[in-house]
Amino acid sequence: TLTKASTLLLFGATGDLSHRMLLPSLYGLHVDELLPEGLKIVATARSQLTDDEFRASAIEALEEHVPADFFDAGKAAEFATRLVYVGLDATDISSFARLQEHIRPDQSLAIFLSTAPSLFEPTIAGLESVGLTGEQVRMALEKPLGFDLASSREINDAVGAAFPEDRIFRIDHYLGKETVQNLLALRFANSIFEPIWNAGHIDHVQISVSETVGLEGRTGYYDGAGALRDMVQNHMLQLLALVAMEPPTEFDANSVRDEKVKVLRSLRPIRPDEVDHDIALGQYGAGTEDGKATPSYLDELGKDSTTETFVALEVRVENWRWAGVPFYLRTGKRLPERKTEIVIQFKCVPHSIFAAGGARSVPNRLVIEIQPRENIRLELMAKRPGLDRDGIRLREVPLDLSLANAFADHRRRIAYERLLLDLIEGQQTLFVRRDEVEAQWQWIDGVRASLAAARAAPQEYKAGSWGPRAAQSLIERDGRQWND
Ligand code: BG6
Repeated sequence: TLTKASTLLLFGATGDLSHRMLLPSLYGLHVDELLPEGLKIVATARSQLTDDEFRASAIEALEEHVPADFFDAGKAAEFATRLVYVGLDATDISSFARLQEHIRPDQSLAIFLSTAPSLFEPTIAGLESVGLTGEQVRMALEKPLGFDLASSREINDAVGAAFPEDRIFRIDHYLGKETVQNLLALRFANSIFEPIWNAGHIDHVQISVSETVGLEGRTGYYDGAGALRDMVQNHMLQLLALVAMEPPTEFDANSVRDEKVKVLRSLRPIRPDEVDHDIALGQYGAGTEDGKATPSYLDELGKDSTTETFVALEVRVENWRWAGVPFYLRTGKRLPERKTEIVIQFKCVPHSIFAAGGARSVPNRLVIEIQPRENIRLELMAKRPGLDRDGIRLREVPLDLSLANAFADHRRRIAYERLLLDLIEGQQTLFVRRDEVEAQWQWIDGVRASLAAARAAPQEYKAGSWGPRAAQSLIERDGRQWND
């Protein structure tokens, strides 16, 4: 078993993820005294910087990305003393020798690869050449872990040749989000939901991840990926698996992942002749946000493209628990609000005794808001106050579990704080196992092949709208509605 790491080795330390997420997370863990005492952070990247230059740029990144009420210049300076910098070119194997000055091969080491996947193989070769793949070395990998099943297998094989599976930590940052873990608590620490968490009582499930941002300058990567591979393959299928999985026997890495992978393997493939019915693709056109004009995807990209920036799907999980229950998934860029939400809609009452008075009965919904607010609410029907003569009038009233209020004294953490700490401590539960990623890709590859066979092309939608019309009809033709 892995012991707590005494060194964290960070590849890609001058990159965007490092500045926006990793350094701020490590700072947070440092301030909360959660990092092992004396943990040294060896930062590497291509540029040649001195320790002091890197420390200064790290502090600048913290100033910019740590919430102002949590940033403290003294603490940041103290945190920076943990950092050392090694300029290293991953494609030049001889440059790895420079790590030896800071890391001994027998040390308990956590490695975080936040680099382009094309550098994974040379980096591993470099680490092997200086003996840094020993029994106490674990390795975290950031997305994209391939662009289809074959390429993801290649990456998994290359990493697997140097590290056994129980030392590979594949990141899906959604698993580090508090509310995502709360989904597990909600399902498995309460007894009232599980008996009705099935096709007998649930009408359908909706999972939406909407973003207001557009391409954000990631032209190369995003245009090659599209919404299906950027968001559905990883984050959304993970959310789906957590909603749909059977109760694991324990909250440990393999019990939880065994259950998730069963769900991922039960996803029903979408055939080419079902594409029109089950999938809606969109690409944002021009629009406005907060009164300001925003350019279309193609204008931002500067060339023609059929990459989808929006996708909605009707997905089926083929097993006893979920037979006949549609899972509607939807994600897109330049939508009206930033929101990640799971809606569990229960079945209607079997017979409404209030219908005579004209009361409309609305099915109960359990709404799990993952971001921006962390909130769980159960929408129930209640009698509207009043002395209506013609019968009882009903209205939906939320039973609100505002997690932010319930835990107001807790600082809101970024997902990477949990993940980095688990990596350092050698805890794999919130990381994705090889069979999960491959099951995800296998299903996505099937969907993409069907899209290609059906010659599906994205419909343009106005930026700031809820996606193309087809996304509405995908759910409305079943007599249901998105929870907008
Ligand atoms: C990333 C995608 O994995 O997740 C981005 O590549 C997306 O396109 C991001 O914006 C969303 O993450 P979050 O945590 O902001 O919901």
